[in-house]
Order: sequence, then C-alpha cells, then structure tokens
Amino acid sequence: MNFRYRLHGLVAIAGLLVLATGAPAHAQTGPVKVGLVLSLTGPFAATGKQIEAGARLYLTRHGDTMAGRKIEFVVKDDGGLPDQAKRIAQEMVVNDKVDVLGGFVLTPLALAVAPVASQSKTPAIVMSAGTSSVIDASPFFVRVSFTLPQNSVGVAEWAPRNGIKSVVTLVSDYGPGIDAELSFKKRFEASGGAVKEAIRVPVRNPDFSPFLQKVRDEKPDAVFVFLPAGVGTQFMKQFASRGLDKAGIRLIGTGDVTEDDILNDMGDVALGVVTSHHYSAAHPSPENQAFVEAFKKANGGKRPNYMAVAGYDGMRVLSHALKATGGKGGEPLLNAMKGQSFDSPRGPVQIDPQTRDIVQNVYIRRVERKEGELYNVEFDVMKAVRDPGRGN
Ligand code: DHB
Repeated sequence: MNFRYRLHGLVAIAGLLVLATGAPAHAQTGPVKVGLVLSLTGPFAATGKQIEAGARLYLTRHGDTMAGRKIEFVVKDDGGLPDQAKRIAQEMVVNDKVDVLGGFVLTPLALAVAPVASQSKTPAIVMSAGTSSVIDASPFFVRVSFTLPQNSVGVAEWAPRNGIKSVVTLVSDYGPGIDAELSFKKRFEASGGAVKEAIRVPVRNPDFSPFLQKVRDEKPDAVFVFLPAGVGTQFMKQFASRGLDKAGIRLIGTGDVTEDDILNDMGDVALGVVTSHHYSAAHPSPENQAFVEAFKKANGGKRPNYMAVAGYDGMRVLSHALKATGGKGGEPLLNAMKGQSFDSPRGPVQIDPQTRDIVQNVYIRRVERKEGELYNVEFDVMKAVRDPGRGN
C-alpha cells in the first residue's frame, strides 16, 4: 500500500469514528466553512464551475460576512464519481470541519454524500441533483435547485394544446431521466397525448444516432428530451444531421437541453425548441437582469445558467439562516433554512418547511434570437409548483 492510500485509509477511519459518535464538529465562532462538493473535471465540469461561480457571486454582491462570521469556501473536485464525492465530503467534515456541505452536480453524487451529512448532522444544500427522491436520502438535505418532475409537467400540459398528440421520450438512463420520462408521460397522457415509445440512452458519452433513427422511424409529432446539463449541443447537432427537423418532428423537453451555458453554440437548429424550466437568463425581472449582468462581469462575459442560480440562492438561504441563528450551525441552522421565501433571479421561491424541497414557478419557453444571441424566451408560467414526482 503506498503512502497516499494509507493516508486516505487513516482519514476514512478517523471519519468513521467521528461519524459513528455523531459528534458535531461545528465550531460556533470563527469563519463559517462551506464545503462545496463539485464536479470540476470530467464531462460535468461546466456544471460544477457554474455552481461555484454562482456561490461566489453571492458573496461578491452581498459581502462575505454573515451574522458576524466570515464565509470561507472549501471547494473539492469529485470528478463526477460517487466514491470520490463521499470521500471528499468525509474529509471536509472531519479534517476541514465544515459547517455546511453543498453542491452535488449529479444525483448519484448527492446520494453518496447523504449518509455523511446525516451521521455528522451537517446541513447540506443540494444545488443540482434533481431526482425527486434525493431529498429523502438525508434529513439534513435542503434543495435549492429543481426536480425533474417539476420541470417536465409544464411542457407535458402545453404540448397537447399545441398540436403535439404523439411523442417519443428520450432520456438519460438514470434517476433524473427516469423521473422526467415517467412524470412527462403521466401528465401528457392525462392531457390527451400518447407516448409511442420510451427510449433511455447511456449517461456518459452517448452517441444519439441510433436512438434518433428509432425516433424518426416512429414518426411522432415530437420527441421529448431530458439530458443533464452540458450534453445538449451534441444532441442538437445529431438531431439536425439525422434530419429529424426536416421530417417535421418537433423537439420539446426540460430546459436542461437548451441551457444557457451552451445554447449559443447550438445554432439555428435550436430555434423554436419549446421547453419548461425554472430558470432562463432571459427572465425579465430586475433581480435577474442585475444577476446576469453581475455574473457576466465576474466571469469574463459568460452567461449564468440554472446551476449558477442554485449556487447563488444556496448562499442566500445559508446567509439568512445564519442571521436567524445568530451564527449557530448544526440542526438550528438546518431548521432556519426550512420555510424561507424570497425573490430569486428565477422568480419567487420557497423552501417547503416539511419536505425541505424547492417550490417555484415553472416557465414555458421558446428558443428565439434576441440581439444576435439565442435565448429561452418565457411565454407562459405555472406558478408555485411543488415537486409532483414524489410517489412516482
Ligand atoms: C441532474 C444533473 C443535471 O446536470 C441536470 O441538468 C439535471 C439533473 C442529476 O443528476 O440529478
């Protein structure tokens, strides 16, 4: 065994001892340490970077001291791997003595960290992971992101009213994709549509061509798509090169497929794509305009996407909870996160005090060109949507 592995072994054993005794490692004075478990390398690195930039922007705009305690980030890369996410969360709790955990780009990463948060009684802010059941994995989880059922039902209701009666669903084959597929089907069929075929594609490095050929052969009115953030560009290119647009098959989905970080690179094939989602950089509120401007200024002109908003709002929830507890961490801090209502750049949101999950507006949007750039332009809204996916 080399030294590095032995060291990891010792850290893990120390972690288990602390976790087993349940002794909270939170100091109540000095800086508040926020451990961000993020994918900063690998295929989901762009998502991790958006979350980190959003969280940092909150401090830039609102100051880095909350309830008299300075905020200090401890940021570590999980590489998109659940075992690594769990190990770094343990290190953060045991060695870095973080007061709060946050991040978790993918559902399996949040699920891997859940026991660490529960056993160490560390509040953990879920800033991405959108499978409904994630929130039940730890009583110390608070979700500021979204759920896939929340974002699927909007377009499921819109489609049959707009000439789309038959659909093939195409989703990434893991938690959020399955949630999207099932909740879309349920609401679409209750609204008068029919799902002809449900296709699930691999999460990593998918080649969409054979699946798109299958969609083409089925001749549906539209294909409904869920893909995690960052994967949409390749999908769009293959959608066009396989001639689905020319065959008159429309593209609808959750807003993950036309997310703001990559939308501009997609080109004209994205024009007219209708999605439902909780955030668009084009959301026309003063809060959002100021947020987008400040984000671009701090990030070399880059546009924020819905991951950045979750990082930003996560810090808002933490900041107001710290004010309420007078700087105390642990369970009082968790309790002070529950029930918060505020105006996010995405619109009005609430953390449901019972479920600890986000309640928010879901907008129906169409990709349009505005001042030379592609945007998801909102044209309808379902207000204050609670996660409809629990019990799916
Ligand atoms: C998940 C990840 C994403 O990037 C996304 O857009 C939606 C859901 C997830 O793994 O839960």
